[in-house]
Amino acid sequence: MVNKPPYRAFSKAVVTTTKKPSPAQEELARSIADHMDVAYYRYRSSIQRLRENQDADYAVVVGREKIRIQWDGGDFYHHPGISVYRVGVSKITPFIAALRPVWGGRTLDTTMGMGRDALVMADRTENKVLGFEKHPAIAVLTHLGLQSLTRMKRFRKVVPRISVVRGDSFRVMAGLLQPRFDYVLLDPMFPKPVSGSRDMEVMHRLTTPFPFDNELLRLAARSAKRRVLMRWPAHVPVPSVGFDIAIPGARKTTVYLVLNLNRPGTRRRLGCPRSIV
Ligand SMILES: C[S@@+](CC[C@H](N)C(=O)[O-])C[C@H]1O[C@@H](n2cnc3c(N)ncnc32)[C@H](O)[C@@H]1O
Repeated sequence: MVNKPPYRAFSKAVVTTTKKPSPAQEELARSIADHMDVAYYRYRSSIQRLRENQDADYAVVVGREKIRIQWDGGDFYHHPGISVYRVGVSKITPFIAALRPVWGGRTLDTTMGMGRDALVMADRTENKVLGFEKHPAIAVLTHLGLQSLTRMKRFRKVVPRISVVRGDSFRVMAGLLQPRFDYVLLDPMFPKPVSGSRDMEVMHRLTTPFPFDNELLRLAARSAKRRVLMRWPAHVPVPSVGFDIAIPGARKTTVYLVLNLNRPGTRRRLGCPRSIV
């Protein structure tokens, strides 16, 4: 599959605060700038002007309550999206039907994004979710955004089960010699964003589209004991590696492709033994 970036990618970023920041805001902004390896600027007259002067595509802005990404299209905040209606609810959604999470199961979320799937899995399994996010700004937004969700009762017990790690999960999986997780989630960026979604536009501008290859699935299957789930755009032909199940997503724009690793033959078909040690 050839993926053309749908939007011009962001390149330059700056980090700043809102007007009259507290010392804690400034300290957080400095540490985010370090983490992202970009420059921190003290707030002067306006964030828009700072971006223009520095020729920056976006600014990470540390406010009193929240952190946001400000760009030409507006403001982008972390938010839990659909997981607000999924956490603490026993409804069987297509995502749940595809994964069939069991109590105590451990999840590796290889494409953390906003952590919405991670929240659902942490709720359903009542166990840890390890999430990797490659983009430093998204990783920070999600880490801090999840912490602030603990103000909402339904997320209070769920959020502490989730760890957000900045890094490339595909490389991490390549180093795993045994299946360490029950579930592995793959939700790379779709080549075409959902039209009208400003948030997805920002995500697309920040990240690079996903080049699918079978090796990635093999790595995921090697890391999981039970199931691997890949969210896939419904309009794109399904890769011919032989998924065990395909379940249409609730919005029909996506399909959940599942490898059921308890099924005899699935690992063999992918050419990945249970252990390579
Ligand atoms: C569609 S979003 C995932 C949304 C997520 N499932 C959720 O529930 O919020 C894809 C995210 O995966 C990240 N990503 C893509 N490839 C990655 C990799 N190799 N390692 C870690 N993160 C990756 C992108 O930066 C992007 O933030």
